[in-house]
Amino acid sequence: MAAIQLIFAKFPAGSNFIVSRDIYGGSYRLFENFKEKYNFSYTYWDEQEDLASLVESNTEAIFIETPTNPLMNVVNLEKISQVAKDNNILFIVDSTLFTPYFIRPIESGADIVIHSATKYLGGHNDLLAGLVITKGENLSEEYAFLHNSIGSTLSPFDCFNLIRGLKTLALRMDKHLANALEVVDYLQSKSEVTKVYFPGNTGMVSFEIKDANDVSDFLKSLNLISFAESLGGVESFITYPITQTHMDIPVEVRESYGLTDRLLRISVGIEHADDIINDFEQAFERLKERVG
Ligand SMILES: Cc1ncc(COP(=O)(O)O)c(C=O)c1O
Repeated sequence: MAAIQLIFAKFPAGSNFIVSRDIYGGSYRLFENFKEKYNFSYTYWDEQEDLASLVESNTEAIFIETPTNPLMNVVNLEKISQVAKDNNILFIVDSTLFTPYFIRPIESGADIVIHSATKYLGGHNDLLAGLVITKGENLSEEYAFLHNSIGSTLSPFDCFNLIRGLKTLALRMDKHLANALEVVDYLQSKSEVTKVYFPGNTGMVSFEIKDANDVSDFLKSLNLISFAESLGGVESFITYPITQTHMDIPVEVRESYGLTDRLLRISVGIEHADDIINDFEQAFERLKERVG
């Protein structure tokens, strides 16, 4: 979040931004706060809408997540970058869920890329960090100045842990993805699951269960998979977005774009895939026993 805050420090009061409709709840919370503080306005964009038609005279940037958190929508970076270029505005991508191992948005026309390094880049759920990658000398110098001036810098120990994590990024991402593919197959075979969201190229999977009333018992039954926020670590985590990561998005807003009380989000870890699937299986079985 410090990386995102740093990015927005560049823009003058009164700026408008076009932002992905589905977005990490913490980013939404920060943007809502910036509205009052800096007189910023945000135009939330659904991928079906014509992006170019949303650009206003005070629009400074397009900020998107790909895939989005938690509905896993993937967008075409080249097309967005063309709209940004045509209108002389910046294109910012939060690429946390794909990581630079799978996708490098700068090569597809992004001007600024951010990653929460707390997630896959660190990879072990033991540090908080963010990365800002900028294109071109002018933008990079401007952000280097802001970074130093604002002071959103890391402690040496977090840097040490982050460098250690980066060394195994490739190995971990291949395993996260392989496990996620098995988990997706498994979830798609379950009658209790009505929808699975998986963008590929990540270990992140969201799914909807039939009955929101089962969520609490289901989460309590899991043994290996931790019911916790955050994502991208070696251990599997499961999150209930509406009470955790996305709790600050008003119910009418999140329901308008499909973030429901039936949605769960898994960060598939690097354990043996059978252990992850067996944990889900016994939790689903317990739901049945309870009903029986
Ligand atoms: C897509 C995305 N961006 C940014 C963040 C913020 O990351 P941090 O916890 O490192 O501040 C998160 C956290 O979940 C996220 O999912």
